[in-house]
Formats: sequence, C-alpha cells, structure tokens
Amino acid sequence: MEQQGAGPVLVATWDFGPACVRAGLAALAAGGTALDAVEQAAWVAEADPQVHTVGFGATPNREGVVQVDAAIMWGPTHQAGSVAGLEGILHPVSVARRVMEQGEHVMLVGAGAHAFARRAGFPAHDLLTPAAHRRWQEWRRQYRDEPSHDTVGVVALDAQGRLAVSCSTSGLAYKQPGRVGDSPIVGSGLYVDNQVGAAAATGRGEDLMRYCVSYAVVAEMAAGRPPMEACLAVLARIAARDPKGTNMEAAVVAVDRQGRTAGAAMRPGFPYGVGAAGEVSLRQGGAVAV
Ligand code: GLY
Repeated sequence: MEQQGAGPVLVATWDFGPACVRAGLAALAAGGTALDAVEQAAWVAEADPQVHTVGFGATPNREGVVQVDAAIMWGPTHQAGSVAGLEGILHPVSVARRVMEQGEHVMLVGAGAHAFARRAGFPAHDLLTPAAHRRWQEWRRQYRDEPSHDTVGVVALDAQGRLAVSCSTSGLAYKQPGRVGDSPIVGSGLYVDNQVGAAAATGRGEDLMRYCVSYAVVAEMAAGRPPMEACLAVLARIAARDPKGTNMEAAVVAVDRQGRTAGAAMRPGFPYGVGAAGEVSLRQGGAVAV
C-alpha cells in the first residue's frame, strides 16, 4: 500500500530500514533537513556491526580489506557527492556529503577519497571487525559464493517539501579490490529531482548500473506514474530486456513530491522501512514476478 500525504516521509531499504527511518525522523524532529535525515539514517546501518553489507563490520574484499561506496544527493540544489573504494572511515555517507558541500567535485575514489576525508577531519577507523575477519578467513578456505549486497538506500521528504537521498554499501562480498557498484553512481544508485521525487536502488550493482535504475524511476514519476507503479514499470522493463529476466538482483525504493512511498523488487521478499505520519513500519515490497 502506498503512503499518501506530504512530508515528513522517509523510506529505507531492507529489514534494517525501520531503525534507519527512526534516526532520520529524529533528525527532522531536531530541526534538520531532509539532507540531515538521509545522512543520519544511513549512519545507523554504517555503524551497526550486525549489518554485514554496510560500513563497520561489513564483509571485506577478497584481500580482506573493507572498501565502501556511498553517495548523497540534495534535491533543492541538485547537488551530489559520492565516494567509492573508500577505506578506513566510519561514515562514508558523511564523506560523500562533505564532497558535495565542498563543491569542487562530485566523486572521489580510493586513496584520494581517504586523504580528502582525513583532511576534512574524519578520524581513521578500522572497519574490519574480528568477526568479519574470521568470516573472510573461512571464505578463503572454501571460496563459496556469498550473495550479500544489501545497500542501505534512504529517501526523505521534509515538511518544507525538500527531497534528499543517500546510499551506502560495502558492495559485493569478497569483491575484487577496486570493484565499484551502482551505489555511488548518480542516476544509478540514487537520484532526486526536487520537482518530482527521489529513488534509491539496491541489489547487484553489475545488474543495476547498466540500467540507471534510480533515474529511470524518477523519470517514470515525472511522466505521472505514482511511485509504486513507477518502480514496477522500470523493473518490469529491465526484466523484459535482460537475459537474466526477473532473476536479476534489483530492488528500489522511492518517494514522490506528494509524499507517496514505494518499494519494489524483481521477486517477492524485499523488506523496507517507511516512516510517515509519525509511524514507522516494515513493509514488503511489490514484485515483478509473483
Ligand atoms: N548495490 C551495491 C553494490 O552492488 O555494490
């Protein structure tokens, strides 16, 4: 069921979504903007060692190093900032925000992104927990596939009608060093048009980033579709074109300017958090294949 009514409204991907949404709503209640809300919401997943796909405690790359990607976008000015292959910083979404606000560039990667963060005052922080290190050692013994690419993606609409979107991820488990997914790519992992709405994607970056999923969802909303219809239309179109069809790992959350929300995936089983009208809930996304 889609949410009706204007902001404040937040959505966040996966079953950690409600906790993220609560943090975003708290940021708004404290006088923050939608931009503060999506940053604070992403912090929850970034700091939680039980979330193995984002930030602290995330699964490392195949060399045992946690490399993370994150991005943020602010509707009123259409500014964006992103980082990719960033190591050793606890809150990559905040580094992305700093890149955006510093204004000289949109995207920084690898050692340059780390140096930028340190110059900006972010402390160095080891993201590899002992538990993640043990899992990596076990993986090296067995080299089994580990499907874990549950990006935190957050969309917020504040009471002033301003939209923002963020995402943060460690990407594929045991990825090739230097591999970058969709999350830090504007239009792919996230997109906002303040006159229309915003979207954030999650799933396998190699699937998502060839279809600019977040931009496509916002474009469908611009053409007049409500968010759920827009998400499902984009996913169905991709499934119809791609050899993997609905086996693609692709899901998306969206909010439009009217405060209507949606979450959808190729298949059933995509949970996401919604905060609206003072209530936070965990919902199941719509699906292309039922
Ligand atoms: N969607 C996150 C990634 O594939 O890196």
